[in-house]
Amino acid sequence: MTTERTLTGITTTGTPHLGNYVGAIRPAIAATANANNESFYFLADFHALIKCQDPELVHRSTTEIAATWLALGLDTSKAVFYRQSDVPEIPELCWILNCMAAKGLMNRAHAYKAAVAANQEAGADPDFGITMGLYSYPVLMAADILMFNAHKVPVGKDQIQHVEMARDIAARFNHHYGDTFVLPEAQVEDSVAVLQGLDGRKMSKSYGNTIPLFLPEKQLKKHINKIKTNLLEPGEAKDPDTSTVFQIWQAFASTEQTAAMRQAFADGIAWGEAKKQLFELINAEIGEARERYNELLASPAVIEEELQKGAEKARQFSAPLLQHCREAVGIRPIG
Ligand code: TRP
Repeated sequence: MTTERTLTGITTTGTPHLGNYVGAIRPAIAATANANNESFYFLADFHALIKCQDPELVHRSTTEIAATWLALGLDTSKAVFYRQSDVPEIPELCWILNCMAAKGLMNRAHAYKAAVAANQEAGADPDFGITMGLYSYPVLMAADILMFNAHKVPVGKDQIQHVEMARDIAARFNHHYGDTFVLPEAQVEDSVAVLQGLDGRKMSKSYGNTIPLFLPEKQLKKHINKIKTNLLEPGEAKDPDTSTVFQIWQAFASTEQTAAMRQAFADGIAWGEAKKQLFELINAEIGEARERYNELLASPAVIEEELQKGAEKARQFSAPLLQHCREAVGIRPIG
């Protein structure tokens, strides 16, 4: 079997929560065990600047996300783990791709269109608050992906359009300058759970309903106790399929544990007891990683060193491909 290259980026604007863990980080780390797969995972800190102009927050988030992946056991001898801003070939390729990306294509990008629609609704100028960063965000994302000739790009549904745009831009470049880039494909896993948050909607930083992944035990317990339930008393049968407690349970439990909890719901388990068991289950899975996480945060130089090593590995791929692109477009020494 030929090796497939998988690449994905994480925007560094927040603290990782259980939804990120279950939906993205855990499956990504598991995928590195597959010998037919080469994994490239990176911290999209240039992308962070589009959404967040608080330097402390961007920096802290970058540190926390890097520490999270390392603490959870990402094997950096297998995966290439790096920070976007440490690979100068990416912004350079981004410019070259900007010159191959149709403006009309960018006009159709969801994130940009949503911002324009919000302005119109508010009766404001359609361009109000919209930066060129937001507008051309899909081109930077295309550079991230094409720079490493990734075949598969695991993303959430909201990012499929961006991967398709990367594909369009790649095809246009290949057509104009000769075969250079692999045409990437979005990979949306239906099997991994989209976790519900405290209020039952999708767990997301923008809804403010998250449970941060590495909370101290006491606080994790407190957060789990805040998960919305109904008023059914102990002894009254409860419906697992409409319960956030059960939905999160499923994401951490074995098949047997899931069946047992389903039965406990039918038997009228008290909400307090179900939540206590949920805390124990989650804590057992992430407890050791939390210790490593706190150790890493206490020695940030270790994190930085990992990222520097990762950047060096990444640049072994990006430098020759960028060189090829420069020559292809006519940028080369004279004589
Ligand atoms: N835009 C992605 C998000 O917000 C993050 C990202 C940046 C990314 N570059 C990427 C994802 C390249 C996949 C491939 O989720």
